[in-house]
Amino acid sequence: MNVLAKMICLKNGLELSLRSPTSNDAQLLLDHIRNVFRTSYRNMNQAQHHWDNFPVEKEREILANILQDEGQFMISAFLGERIVGNIACMSAGRGFQEANASVAMGVEAEFHGMGLGTELLNYVFEIAKSLKYHRLQLTVRTFNNAGIALYEKMGFRRVGELEEIAFIEGQYFNEYMYEKIL
Ligand SMILES: CC(C)(COP(=O)(O)OP(=O)(O)OC[C@H]1O[C@@H](n2cnc3c(N)ncnc32)[C@H](O)[C@@H]1OP(=O)(O)O)[C@@H](O)C(=O)NCCC(=O)NCCS
Repeated sequence: MNVLAKMICLKNGLELSLRSPTSNDAQLLLDHIRNVFRTSYRNMNQAQHHWDNFPVEKEREILANILQDEGQFMISAFLGERIVGNIACMSAGRGFQEANASVAMGVEAEFHGMGLGTELLNYVFEIAKSLKYHRLQLTVRTFNNAGIALYEKMGFRRVGELEEIAFIEGQYFNEYMYEKIL
């Protein structure tokens, strides 16, 4: 679905626009993802250089599909012509579990600690509720203190630990599972 633009103000007074990225924003989104991976790939689900050669045409197609799907959405944080944060909310169940969605996000390092993660999650809660989602879920690596602090601040409850689920550069790492009832 297409989430409409909303202006927000970060703790340092910077004004950003939150809205769904469209196909026209594919290059901006890839640039953003590459920036997040440069510093934080160990928190994410792909290797550091996974996105380096990802074709922009493919990203355009992905964004067009998400916009057309009423069960999922992305929200990017635009600072002028640049994307500095992004969050995705995807359907995570069918049938009796269709009111579940999963969340994944990233903010560029130079914008950490300014309240952007909080703003992105708050907007996701609002839109997810309007789509009749009842429960959100996510996992976060046990060493990701910023992620853990953000999710707990936003009312997610830790419900378990996935042992050695991620294999990164020769070592296994655990992830915590979190959920939030909307
Ligand atoms: C996790 C992440 C999204 C947080 O985004 P953010 O914009 O920095 O979050 P906020 O500024 O809204 O901070 C939320 C809370 O987390 C806490 N926090 C922020 N950075 C922290 C850190 N490094 N260590 C501990 N707590 C931290 C703060 O207490 C803050 O609460 P406050 O508003 O009461 O001060 C961001 O660090 C990030 O994108 N990291 C790299 C990618 C990643 O880890 N994605 C998530 C994968 S599961």
